[in-house]
Amino acid sequence: MNSNRRTFLMGSAAAAQAVLSQSAQGQEAEARVPTAVIGTGNRGSNLLRGVMEQPNTKVLAVCDIKPDRLDKAASAAAKDNPRTYTDWRQVIDRKDIEAVFVATPPHLHAEMAIAALQAGKHVYCEKPIGVTPRQVQDLVIAARASNKVFVVGQQRRSSPQMTEAVRKIREGAIGTVVMVKAQRHAPSDLPYEGSSSDWYFNVNKSGGYLIEQSVHNLDMCNWIVGENPLRASGFGATLVHPTEPQGRSIFDCGVLSYDYPSGAKMSFTQNVFHPRGMPGGGQNMMVYGTKAAVDFLSSMNVYPLTGNAKPEPLVPEAKEDQHIHITTFYNCITKGAPNPADIEVGAAATLTAILGHMAMVKGGVADWIDLGVNL
Ligand SMILES: NC(=O)c1ccc[n+]([C@@H]2O[C@H](COP(=O)([O-])OP(=O)(O)OC[C@H]3O[C@@H](n4cnc5c(N)ncnc54)[C@H](O)[C@@H]3O)[C@@H](O)[C@H]2O)c1
Repeated sequence: MNSNRRTFLMGSAAAAQAVLSQSAQGQEAEARVPTAVIGTGNRGSNLLRGVMEQPNTKVLAVCDIKPDRLDKAASAAAKDNPRTYTDWRQVIDRKDIEAVFVATPPHLHAEMAIAALQAGKHVYCEKPIGVTPRQVQDLVIAARASNKVFVVGQQRRSSPQMTEAVRKIREGAIGTVVMVKAQRHAPSDLPYEGSSSDWYFNVNKSGGYLIEQSVHNLDMCNWIVGENPLRASGFGATLVHPTEPQGRSIFDCGVLSYDYPSGAKMSFTQNVFHPRGMPGGGQNMMVYGTKAAVDFLSSMNVYPLTGNAKPEPLVPEAKEDQHIHITTFYNCITKGAPNPADIEVGAAATLTAILGHMAMVKGGVADWIDLGVNL
């Protein structure tokens, strides 16, 4: 790519700030994207490590309301000597910052991401993009109105292996997809004294297990089926840990069914009491087609419906870079690369999770149309 194109894609403020480094061979210098990370807890520090590994980034700011996390982040990014902030608005106000990561608790995502987009920043926003339909709607409007890159932190969308597997399914490798059976089971809650305990167990802040965590799994289901669901039915409850921690307002289990416009059906269960060591735990996803089925999240083997053919891998096993989604984000910014996890993907996944949560709360059916969001 020529440097004019890069300058154009980064915008004039970034171009002015670009830090140029000369390679040993004296080849074309690489512009570094001035970046900030807001929320430097568990996920934010992992993202920060990924940002530091990129060749074309410079971390100018890190922000958190907790001093210990801020200190750790400043140390992790020491080679870029970032400024530290406790007020995220001061980060957004900086004209020289071009890219912002939002890794705060879910209820804060929409407000922060909207402010960053409206200030002309590229945004990498952790999932879920909101905990209410209104937050999702507002962020969709802001992202569509912006000419900047918006990437949601659904990193499986950058996996070459999964992308290839979905492509093959869409091309008919198992016939027409008619059913998905998926789950997210864990042996326990997140730690009650852990890094996220001050927001995770509050349904108004996290949205609950389905919205905060299973959003990844529901996104995969939508991706594979190739549609967003029309409606969901479900039942949720807090059966094993009703009072741990005190004041808890999120479910510890749920069973759900989703109905897609094509007629495809999806069944989903979640719980935090699947004993470690008992078979069938963790995350899995069986995808059933009219000709075969695939064990999507583990072996990736395709099992033909008829005949005696042996199961064959849908795609070869591959070891993948854990920060590939961050590379995707910067490739979108600097090279205009295709965005596999844009606002439409993020909104559909979060709304699918919110729909399921609504059904579980109601103990009945919730329709997509009742979300009131026009995607
Ligand atoms: N994509 C993934 O695989 C993945 C994995 C883990 C977490 N996440 C997501 O990342 C987000 C954060 O999760 P986490 O596990 O890192 O939680 P965490 O509690 O460890 O970190 C959140 C951080 O945000 C900070 N914060 C809160 N309010 C703030 C504010 N107003 N301004 C600045 N900082 C503020 C907190 O002090 C905390 O350090 C969640 O949305 C979660 O769903 C994504």
